Amino acid sequence: MPPRVTTDVDAALEVLRSGGLVAIPTETVYGLAADASNETAVRRIFAAKQRPVDHPLIVHLARAEQLRDWAATVPASAAVLAAACWPGPLTVLVPRAAHVLDVVTGGRPSVGIRVPAHPLTTELLERFGGGLAAPSANRFGRVSPTTAEHVVRDLGDVPNGVDLVLDGGPCPVGVESTIVDCTVEPAQVLRPGGIPTEQVAALLNGALAPAAGPSRAAGMQASHYAPRCPVLLADTPADVARLAAQQDDPLVIDDADDLVRYAQQLYHLLRRADDEHRSAVVALMPPAAGLGHAIRDRLVKAAADRAG
Ligand code: TXA
Ligand code: MG
Repeated sequence: MPPRVTTDVDAALEVLRSGGLVAIPTETVYGLAADASNETAVRRIFAAKQRPVDHPLIVHLARAEQLRDWAATVPASAAVLAAACWPGPLTVLVPRAAHVLDVVTGGRPSVGIRVPAHPLTTELLERFGGGLAAPSANRFGRVSPTTAEHVVRDLGDVPNGVDLVLDGGPCPVGVESTIVDCTVEPAQVLRPGGIPTEQVAALLNGALAPAAGPSRAAGMQASHYAPRCPVLLADTPADVARLAAQQDDPLVIDDADDLVRYAQQLYHLLRRADDEHRSAVVALMPPAAGLGHAIRDRLVKAAADRAG
């Protein structure tokens, strides 16, 4: 049975309280949520996504003040970033509180926390009261969903996959949250995302370790966020033209001027390339600044060699 798609927060609450899975809209991408304090429910997320169980999940909360309920201690960097960026596309890794389940953290000593900015999900979280563990609501390794329809297409036919999709429309940011490891000194960006790295650095008065290569949060492999067709990266418009000319029927992404729009559209376009059976995606890399860091990271991962 396909999942119910609705804007009914009451119905979503009922599913969560009975241990079910709800796809939730956030400003970044849709998440596949379960009650973070219900081990059986959280385990269902891994089965639905076919995600290895040692990949930790982010706990989503209604309000920044709840951070201290989920952290053993709140590092100064986490407090500063949470106060400035939440609700918004930022995840902080903090030392986990004792009650946080191993199944959520993959047995790690840290837990990822974020307060998302989406009216429907904020209402859901406020009324739920607790934390919702949620990864992106896609099958493991594939492109994250930015509409309710994407979720249904990815997970709708998975037995026991998703019980209800809360439809909050298209996600306005379109790429995942920035993950900052606040358990180390100085803090470090593990995954560039919706909050630009420059903004994180400024908020921490420059006390931010440089990101080392492509995003490296736990379990992130080289190939990720990938459509089925090849993704070819171009550094200049001339490269775009050259690569596109070598393809039968490429989908070309060559407008890198408006980074907000680029991020919003990116996953939608990667999915469309497969829907339209294109031979490849040819994408112009945006400058490495602001949202450009996250877009570049996702494009590099989408283009990486894959096993099968
Ligand atoms: O924008 C987002 O962050 C979305 C929305 C739904 O909130 N969520 C998301 O979750 O992208 P996910 O699971 O697809 O990516 C989270 C990444 C994973 O690579 C996970 O391994 C890493 O964060 N992560 C989570 N908790 C961690 C921890 N305690 N230590 C290290 N890495 C962690
Ligand atoms: Mg994901």
